[in-house]
Amino acid sequence: MPSRPLSQHPLRRRFPAVVGCLALLAAGAARAGGSDEASPLPAPPADPAATLAAALAAGDHERALPLALALHEEAEARHVEALYTVARLHGLLGRPDEAFAWLERAAATGLLGVQEVRRDEAFAALRDEARFQDLTRQIWLKGYLWLLERPERDAYQQPEEVMRLLAVRPGERVADIGAGSGYFTLRLARAVGPEGRVRALDINDLLLDLLRGRVAEAGLAQVEVAKVQPDDPLLAPASVDLILMVDTLHYVKDRPAYARRLAAGLAPGGRSAIVDFLPKPLEERPWGPPPEQEMPRAEVDAAMAAAGLVPAAVHHFLAEQFFVVYRRAEETASAP
Ligand SMILES: C[S@@+](CC[C@H](N)C(=O)[O-])C[C@H]1O[C@@H](n2cnc3c(N)ncnc32)[C@H](O)[C@@H]1O
Repeated sequence: MPSRPLSQHPLRRRFPAVVGCLALLAAGAARAGGSDEASPLPAPPADPAATLAAALAAGDHERALPLALALHEEAEARHVEALYTVARLHGLLGRPDEAFAWLERAAATGLLGVQEVRRDEAFAALRDEARFQDLTRQIWLKGYLWLLERPERDAYQQPEEVMRLLAVRPGERVADIGAGSGYFTLRLARAVGPEGRVRALDINDLLLDLLRGRVAEAGLAQVEVAKVQPDDPLLAPASVDLILMVDTLHYVKDRPAYARRLAAGLAPGGRSAIVDFLPKPLEERPWGPPPEQEMPRAEVDAAMAAAGLVPAAVHHFLAEQFFVVYRRAEETASAP
């Protein structure tokens, strides 16, 4: 990696913020000029710095701000690349302390591609050191958090609409399985209120620690953060009114067995909501699950049905994911 700029980094290439920002800007300009037809996005300005200078000279601050942000991001990407190159050179010259110091600076500045750092031969001599492993864990966490929390996510995730349709009531007991950084946990906690309970469950210690900190900071005593097993959410029998799994079930290997555990954890009248990625080729959506984790909705329906759960509501408004709420077959006729 990092002999290439961060703007070309796999994560950034997948979310080309600079180009995206400039293209959106250009699209906005085209619409402002009356051209609102459904056509491919216009090319970004050839010379963003000159376009920014022109916007500033014209006093057009609305137009100038996104250009300035895009230029900042590009400069930051070059900065990260330069820091990484210095770290590599120290690694190649056999100077571990300097290599660590520069790698840490690159990480603090925005280095995201952990796999490439781990595989980089320039750091072969450092790989077994605790400092390297700790650093690469921190880089992984930063990249993962960026995927979960980047501003573009709200646009495709529509969390408020998802929450509205989940119709969580104050006092309910909810399990957020694969809670991650708490994107939905915190919303669920507010929806159940102080009388309710949210079990925020995950298998990853780094994310669990981060989430514990966020929950404590927000003073949400109704949230319990706990580690679970990859094949078992460790739900007590009939203990929750709602299970939510967002972008998590596709990680589970034996989904029929897992669905049985979900069903066993549901209290009478309970529901289990699954939101997960619609299968798409990686070329179309490089940030989605890899092909080996692809999980068509029909497969989830079958696993749930074998556990006695059937779709009670199917929502189609999410562009990237399916969203299905399952209930016990015998309870669907009487469900509100
Ligand atoms: C793509 S993230 C989604 C996080 C969160 N639900 C959200 O919407 O932001 C998937 C999360 O599921 C966790 N995870 C993966 N496999 C799991 C399993 N078998 N049980 C519980 N959590 C799991 C991961 O550690 C990660 O935090």
